[in-house]
Amino acid sequence: MKILGIETSCDETSAAIIEGTGNTLNILSNIISSSLRIHGKTGGIIPENAAREQIKFITPVIEKALGTAGTRLEDIDAVALTYGPGLIGSLLVGVETAKTISYVFTKPLIPVNHMIGHIYANWINNTQIRFPAIALVVSGGHTDLLLIKNHGDNKLLGGTRDDAAGEAFDKIGRLLGLPYPGGPAIEEVAPKGNPNRFRFPRPLIGSPDLDFSFSGLKTAVLREIESIITLNEQTVNDLAYATQEAIIDVLIKKTLKAVDKYKARSVVISGGVSANQKLREKLIVNCEQLNVKFFAPDKKLCTDNAAMIASAAYFNFKPESWQNVTADPELYFE
Ligand code: KG4
Ligand code: ZN
Repeated sequence: MKILGIETSCDETSAAIIEGTGNTLNILSNIISSSLRIHGKTGGIIPENAAREQIKFITPVIEKALGTAGTRLEDIDAVALTYGPGLIGSLLVGVETAKTISYVFTKPLIPVNHMIGHIYANWINNTQIRFPAIALVVSGGHTDLLLIKNHGDNKLLGGTRDDAAGEAFDKIGRLLGLPYPGGPAIEEVAPKGNPNRFRFPRPLIGSPDLDFSFSGLKTAVLREIESIITLNEQTVNDLAYATQEAIIDVLIKKTLKAVDKYKARSVVISGGVSANQKLREKLIVNCEQLNVKFFAPDKKLCTDNAAMIASAAYFNFKPESWQNVTADPELYFE
């Protein structure tokens, strides 16, 4: 089965063709056009700018995805699209495009929750994941832990009470004068930091629930910066190191707590922050000690892309009539 995936929830315009047979899923094409550079100039995403870029790129990106895969719209078996959460203007571009293709070419239309899409990046070229699995979703807008009992059978275990992990990276990156987005920028300079100079609080690390809170971390970094006369390069590196450690420590502690509580056999991480190498390395070691299988998507598949959306649709094949599909910017886990 060939599925065309379309992802336009934020600042990436992406289209992919994936081919699935049984448990195996391969990418035939995964085209991503990012407007990140434009948002770098404004220090963050301005929704209207993101929506304009989506309109500009959606048709060429779909054409390129079809061309690279050597297929035509007539020959695909279904269309998968992100319907939320995200920016309304951006989401609408993908939703309306997918609905039009579904209507004109009479193809099944499968709406996908963007966050479930992130999780399903793990099933691309991977047949090893065993249930029950704990999914840690760490992106710019979300930090969530889910129990996945089987395909289509998920339960939200906990989430952030304020800022998401990626948001914390981005806000602190801005405080440190690093380029946007802050996550990769902090990861790049953190190894040059002195591990012993700063230590930031790990909010909720010992709480009995599986929730997160990262807004206090940003305040702690701000206080530290305010007490420093000049923010030189070494200090930025030292603060980046301590920030990354604090975020990663909490993410790992809560993930392992969920593993223990639900006797999970696998851990899957996803979302932009899951590209972080230190987070991956520490989770590999910790999961090995607990005899739990650890999976992370290929780094290219951690940030927004359409292959993950098509993957989620393949393993949760629930077509909807195009009249019933609408963009839902506030969508959470069902
Ligand atoms: O999943 P994503 O591409 O978009 C959302 O749906 O939010 O995630 C973007 C987030 C940004 O906050 C970015 O700073 C963070 O992922 N990020 C990282 C890394 N790469 C991206 N955070 C930490 N380390 C990274 N290597
Ligand atoms: Zn995302």
